[in-house]
Amino acid sequence: MRVIVTGASGVLGSAVFAAFKAAGLDVLGLAHSRTKGELRKLDLLDASATKGVLSEFKPDWVIHCAAERRPDVAEKDPDATRKINVAVPETLATLSKELKFKLVYISTDYVFDGTSPPYTPSAATSPVNLYGITKRDGELAVLGVTGAQSIVLRVPVLYGPAEKNSDTAVNILLDVVTDQSGKTYKMDHYATRYPTNVLDIADFLVRLIQLPSGKVVPPIIHYSAEEPFTKYEMCLVFARILGLPHAHIVADAEPPKAGTVRPQNTQLYVHETQDLMEGSGGLGWNPFEEWWQVYLAKKQ
Ligand SMILES: NC(=O)c1ccc[n+]([C@@H]2O[C@H](COP(=O)([O-])OP(=O)(O)OC[C@H]3O[C@@H](n4cnc5c(N)ncnc54)[C@H](OP(=O)(O)O)[C@@H]3O)[C@@H](O)[C@H]2O)c1
Repeated sequence: MRVIVTGASGVLGSAVFAAFKAAGLDVLGLAHSRTKGELRKLDLLDASATKGVLSEFKPDWVIHCAAERRPDVAEKDPDATRKINVAVPETLATLSKELKFKLVYISTDYVFDGTSPPYTPSAATSPVNLYGITKRDGELAVLGVTGAQSIVLRVPVLYGPAEKNSDTAVNILLDVVTDQSGKTYKMDHYATRYPTNVLDIADFLVRLIQLPSGKVVPPIIHYSAEEPFTKYEMCLVFARILGLPHAHIVADAEPPKAGTVRPQNTQLYVHETQDLMEGSGGLGWNPFEEWWQVYLAKKQ
């Protein structure tokens, strides 16, 4: 099986690329500004270069992880965000039809407004910020290409191995916890998140593309860990693991008054995915605190 992973220099894509390699599949990882090692450089905004790479490699699957995933950056540059988050997935879906590969488009729980969780894959989308709107529009673009073989995989906030803590909205909380300089931080204790490990998603994707041919994968599927945390609660977990005081972090249970709007609770309903993966390892997510305990112990 031949697989292309876009965004293979990113937090999710690098884990997905490594997992497919470890599974012995023939995998090509694509990156843009952070191309290094075995990754190949490709600007996905260049549709003709993209077609060239895909025609040459002849993938059976393309796992499309590349995107602008930062809500604040998206708000500041809507045109650029639309190009990478909407036009690029549409191009890939068109190529999926023409070159006959299956496309997995990674989407987000931010396509929902967070007012009536949990959300099933068929629940009405209603994004509250530009990032969510562009990811929803990317979903519609991908699913709108008749004859393409596309799957939309929605995931919630990500964590896992990352070059820099600032690469994920969860890892960055480590910097807050370890800042014992006397600075105080107000920390979100309003929005409930379901932090999900990129290693677990990568392992799930390896199993997904190898499901027996009789299993029909629906066009939209959800993958999520099932432990709820506010960002403040994640900080308490990190403080406990690291044995650090946390009085400098103050819980803020009020809805944020400034900045990019974020939904309050976009819990993804995952039972359909559990049924799909029955006999193929289930969802297979790892508990948050246990994973961090092992990971941080190895880093020290
Ligand atoms: N992060 C989250 O918490 C979260 C939550 C839910 C869903 N998601 C979704 O999960 C997916 C992966 O997110 P992530 O956090 O792994 O993102 P990330 O770490 O920010 O990585 C983004 C990737 O996109 C690539 N990219 C950006 N513009 C490109 C272009 N013009 N041509 C080629 N590649 C380009 C980047 O390549 P270079 O860096 O090499 O330029 C990078 O590899 C995205 O679809 C995101 O919407 C993320």
